[in-house]
Amino acid sequence: MTGYGVLLVFFAITFISPSISVNGGILRKFQAQEITVQDIQIAFKQKKLTSRKLVEFYISEIQRLNPVLKSVLEINPDALYQADKADQERKSKAPLSLSNIHGIPILLKDNIATKDKLNTTAGSYALLGSVVPRDAGVVEKLRKAGAIILGKASLSEWSHYRADFIPNGWCARGGQAVNPYVASADPCGSSSGSAISVAANMAAVSLGTETDGSILCPSSYNSVVGIKPTLGLTSRAGVVPITPRQDSVGPICRTVSDAVYVLDAIVGFDRNDAATRRSSKFIPSGGYPQFLRTDGLRGKRLLITHYPGFGFSNDSAVVNAFEPHLRKLRDKGAVLVDKLLEIPNVSDYFGSSGEDTAMSVEFKSAINTYLKKLVVSHVRTLEDLIKFNHKFSGLEMLKEFGQSLFLASEATNGTDAAYRKAITNMKKLNKGYEKMMRDNKLDAFVTPSPNCSPVLAIGGYPGISVPAGYDSNGVPLGICFGGLKGSEPKLIEIAYGFEQATKFRRPPAFKP
Ligand SMILES: *[C@@H]1O[C@H](CO)[C@@H](O)[C@H](O)[C@H]1NC(C)=O
Ligand SMILES: *[C@@H]1O[C@H](CO)[C@@H](O)[C@H](O)[C@H]1NC(C)=O
Ligand SMILES: *[C@@H]1O[C@H](CO)[C@@H](O)[C@H](O)[C@H]1NC(C)=O
Ligand SMILES: *[C@@H]1O[C@H](CO)[C@@H](O)[C@H](O)[C@H]1NC(C)=O
Repeated sequence: MTGYGVLLVFFAITFISPSISVNGGILRKFQAQEITVQDIQIAFKQKKLTSRKLVEFYISEIQRLNPVLKSVLEINPDALYQADKADQERKSKAPLSLSNIHGIPILLKDNIATKDKLNTTAGSYALLGSVVPRDAGVVEKLRKAGAIILGKASLSEWSHYRADFIPNGWCARGGQAVNPYVASADPCGSSSGSAISVAANMAAVSLGTETDGSILCPSSYNSVVGIKPTLGLTSRAGVVPITPRQDSVGPICRTVSDAVYVLDAIVGFDRNDAATRRSSKFIPSGGYPQFLRTDGLRGKRLLITHYPGFGFSNDSAVVNAFEPHLRKLRDKGAVLVDKLLEIPNVSDYFGSSGEDTAMSVEFKSAINTYLKKLVVSHVRTLEDLIKFNHKFSGLEMLKEFGQSLFLASEATNGTDAAYRKAITNMKKLNKGYEKMMRDNKLDAFVTPSPNCSPVLAIGGYPGISVPAGYDSNGVPLGICFGGLKGSEPKLIEIAYGFEQATKFRRPPAFKP
């Protein structure tokens, strides 16, 4: 892995606890580090803080930290204008008419389209200067809720779908993004920039996307909370895709409640994504914040399973590190069920015999459709992207890591026998998983993050990763809860219950 030439700079930065002054700096300082959405809304109401002050704070933090962390690709030139607008609205409108995330600055993974001055590039120069037809469905909802689009976060290029061995957190436009806890540690991906940026207090909240692990994994490695929603609960329209069969958009934030407020604002029907019609039935009346209950673990039945697809290996180090968490879950009233998933040869259904084969076929048509719909673009097909990469193959990384996944996808011939076999395998897995959850009356399964993702990815099921401590080197660990489709309310109760009982998250230590 390259890109750690930044290490020296890392040592040189002095990390004084930053603060922003309110009321022109005459009165007391307002502590902005680790500030939550709820803190912000209270400070707004008490007139101790404005959206402008908050945006100025985050922009200055991005300017200070981004040369080292490389987690932000672009700052929105209109962010301060949007902040002033939010401050105006707060003065002129009834407080109850404003959403929970009104006036809150949010950073978006760079594969989420915005029709404004920001580029949407999935980290690649191939899309720089392209013009999208409209805001992504989730962005439309964020703007309606009064959120401030702060900028675009870096990512593993093309959501890690260009080549197998490109390092997590690397893209051509941003270079290698860095884990703020331990610079030599994996930042994971592909929503690396979103996770790093909120972890290092460079934004209030953020959005990432997940096809298999891209929210849950970087959340775990950067000590933040990630929610990967049920497929179609959030619109994927206007998101640079891997496959509509698995892609999902979700929040990455410092706390469960922040993530829940953001989720609450972005769920729902979007005419540009058919899956949102099917999944909007899962949205509870009264919204998601009602499930932020400190006693949320009480009576919940949680499965511990041992299949690799659920992330729970039998590796003794993992099991030992996890044991105290399981005790904590029991202490808080959860019932733990230790079971095996009873599907013959279940391991065969992960990886190349299912997901990988299907994705390779589906990416080609999904990316071609996305590119075709762009208003302006010099690349219109996967073939164009491959040619673009060849032409610029002198660039560092491109030469080294190639574009194996692009090439494999381009070589697919549509839905052939191998594809159909892959889909059948995954359906078997989903059926077995759902049966196991129902037969055992399980509310969720629990694993060490981040490896819970495959089973959730393949079936479009939701998952939440919550900070669960740090290893002996200071690298963050996470705990993952996964459920059945539409089980977000239960997962939120469980995740919030665990978070409130443990409060593991600490701001980054910036160790080499
Ligand atoms: C978007 O990309 C163009 C280059 O094509 C650049 O000039 C512009 O500054 C970028 N926008 C932002 C907000 O950085
Ligand atoms: C893990 O351990 C359990 C219980 O001893 C065993 O039944 C299971 O087969 C093991 N799983 C793996 C993946 O080794
Ligand atoms: C499980 O795998 C073994 C070895 O590949 C194979 O012989 C067997 O038929 C498989 N069983 C099922 C139910 O697929
Ligand atoms: C696609 O079809 C061509 C021509 O029939 C064949 O040579 C190639 O192996 C096929 N590719 C895949 C991935 O099946």
